[in-house]
Amino acid sequence: MNYKIALIRGDGIGPEIVREAKKVLDKVCDIYGHTFSYEEVLLGGASIDVHGVPLTEEAVETARSCDAVLMGSIGGDARTSPWYQLEPSKRPEAGLLAIRKQLNLFANLRPAYLYEELKDACPLKEEIIGEGFDMMIMRELTGGLYFGERRTTVEDGVETAVDTLTYNEKEIRRIAVRAFDIAMKRRKKVTSVDKANVLDSSRLWRKVVEDVAKDYPEVALDHMLVDNCAMQLVHNPGQFDVILTENMFGDILSDEASMVTGSIGMLSSASLNETKFGLYEPSHGSAPDIAGKDLANPIATILSAAMLLRYSLDLDKEADAVEAAVQKVLKGGYRTGDIMADGMEQVGTKRMGDLIAAEIR
Ligand code: NAD
Ligand code: IPM
Ligand code: MN
Repeated sequence: MNYKIALIRGDGIGPEIVREAKKVLDKVCDIYGHTFSYEEVLLGGASIDVHGVPLTEEAVETARSCDAVLMGSIGGDARTSPWYQLEPSKRPEAGLLAIRKQLNLFANLRPAYLYEELKDACPLKEEIIGEGFDMMIMRELTGGLYFGERRTTVEDGVETAVDTLTYNEKEIRRIAVRAFDIAMKRRKKVTSVDKANVLDSSRLWRKVVEDVAKDYPEVALDHMLVDNCAMQLVHNPGQFDVILTENMFGDILSDEASMVTGSIGMLSSASLNETKFGLYEPSHGSAPDIAGKDLANPIATILSAAMLLRYSLDLDKEADAVEAAVQKVLKGGYRTGDIMADGMEQVGTKRMGDLIAAEIR
């Protein structure tokens, strides 16, 4: 089959990790007889350098015209990059938020899974790791603090900044439905995470989630306050199946969850709208500290490409093949620096991509 994929290489390590994910997809095409045509789309700093803005209308339209988008990370070092001399609405991150909003990508899936082979990279004690863990963080992606009204004012020489956290019932319902649907295909447990002891938006969140749960009698629902959840993730990560939460809490908790899988370099993500269309990117950032040094772990991006095959193209066999190839290479003892352990062979970004592509069956 022929598919059209938008490729956003991004900033920092972005181009290096996208290059490796594309290498793996090219191998999938060879073996399974598909054709992917790629459309290059600029976002973030790379777009600022060419167009002066982090996202153009044309970029959104090109992305929209494709079956899916594969993306590296965007952004730079705020202390040194000229992109951060621009006003906030013109900086790289504003482009990322805008494309998420304009493509209505409200459902962000971030799977945190501990590979048996990476137990030695997990910072938790053996007795806490237990049988390992496998959770899906469902992060709401187009509402909350990220998209609420924002302003900074000065009165009598005193500066005040305001960010608003808004959710309506419809926004909560559609992400909750997604979370319950996914739980039905997994271990049938949803932990909804909020701050209902303080926030009105969380009290509404809880009420709507309870209501959605009525349609899923087989799914066990519990609620957890976000501060407790942050603690439980390192105390007993095995208790979680699907974690359902709002935008900012999901951002923070997913970085935390990534570390217990060994490294932020392992955590993939899919951002989906109501259709099959999605944008697939690692959960980590552009890691300016290691950019251009062949040090970045490309696995989060390669696993995001596997999610693209599965969710947007319905190519389950091919997605399985990519995931199996990653596992095989880890089993073979190859590690990038972030997941390195005694007795393993350290490889760079490019070699890791080559090894995984070579294992596609
Ligand atoms: P970061 O995730 O880029 O880096 C945090 C730490 O993790 C760094 O030490 C980095 O070297 C390491 N790291 C990240 N990805 C890695 C990988 N694949 N392999 C090995 N190590 C890896 O977070 P940050 O430093 O807070 O942010 C840097 C820039 O990235 C900022 O401009 C930020 O806005 C942006 N950012 C973008 C995205 C995105 O595009 N989705 C996500 C997060 C941050
Ligand atoms: C992520 C990132 C983004 C977010 C930033 C870069 C705007 O941290 O995708 O997790 O906060 O959503
Ligand atoms: Mn983040």
